[in-house]
Amino acid sequence: MDYRSLFNEALKNEPFPAHPEGLYEPIRYTLEGGGKRVRPVLLLTAAGIYGASPEEAMPAAMAIETYHNSTLLHDDLMDRADLRHAKETVWKKWGTNTAVLSGDTMLMLALRKLQECRCERQQEIARLFIDTIIEICEGQQMDMNFETQKADETAISEYLEMIRLKTSVLVACAAKAGGMIAGADEEDCNLLYAFAEKVGLAFQLQDDMLDVWGDASVFGKANGGDIACGKKTYPLLTAVSLATGEDRKALLADIDERKAPEAERISRVTAIYDRLGVRKLCEQAVSAYYDEARAFYNLLPLPDERKSPLWQWAEALLGRKR
Ligand code: IPE
Ligand code: IPE
Ligand code: MG
Ligand code: MG
Ligand code: MG
Repeated sequence: MDYRSLFNEALKNEPFPAHPEGLYEPIRYTLEGGGKRVRPVLLLTAAGIYGASPEEAMPAAMAIETYHNSTLLHDDLMDRADLRHAKETVWKKWGTNTAVLSGDTMLMLALRKLQECRCERQQEIARLFIDTIIEICEGQQMDMNFETQKADETAISEYLEMIRLKTSVLVACAAKAGGMIAGADEEDCNLLYAFAEKVGLAFQLQDDMLDVWGDASVFGKANGGDIACGKKTYPLLTAVSLATGEDRKALLADIDERKAPEAERISRVTAIYDRLGVRKLCEQAVSAYYDEARAFYNLLPLPDERKSPLWQWAEALLGRKR
């Protein structure tokens, strides 16, 4: 089943209010801006393998994508990002007040949509969403704290907890909510969560890599945004663990002090990553998370032909370019 097209069709038929235009136009601009629909497709897929129809699961799928897009409005403001989906970010185009207010509205539209999900475990699903949203705020705060924390004092374990919170838990929530809507057993729902949590970690490592090495015209964002802000990313922490001598000095200065012009810092840090073979190490880390995800997938007590769409969802993300 082509859940992505089904989802996009449902979104097209979603009646967003027209007024005030300044509030709702940025919402439509964001939701129709070319997102990959990773989370709603996962939710529909998980629900589908446990026997729920796309119609039953669509309100929750819509809710999760609307909420995800609200985080992008706020995230781009926090990260001072100029581009998303190769278009101006909301705060750049309409100002910071709009990014805050349209983002907040999207969050509440998401929760309102979730109430349309009429399944037995509706209360429990709502609680999962809310707990997840709080975790994401915690992850985003950690991400910001790390901008002012020295690169050689940030442990990879802290980074991994930060990305689990800012990115992975929402992917995991999508999978589990799908299972819950379909009435899957508690144990199955927890396996779905664990599976997607691992894919979510790999997904954020890929995002960190694309920020450095992605084709900006496909990824839709300029290269080096994370380096420019002194973000603690997997490539950076891997490089810090390996760099010595002049490379180490330059790396720490460019990330912690950020005195040189931005373009110069981005090209110097990228060159250090390349000298140290960081890209390859990131790819290996992604692949290790896929192995862990596969182990949870294998434990799902469904015949292969029933559950294979779930693995296909994960595999489709593996070589992603955007
Ligand atoms: C971007 O998510 C934010 C991260 C958690 C890395 P996506 O890469 O799924 O963004 P869209 O929805 O496709 O725009
Ligand atoms: C995104 O992390 C996490 C959330 C939006 C909650 P990033 O800041 O790395 O995402 P991109 O790179 O801007 O999409
Ligand atoms: Mg960002
Ligand atoms: Mg961010
Ligand atoms: Mg990123």
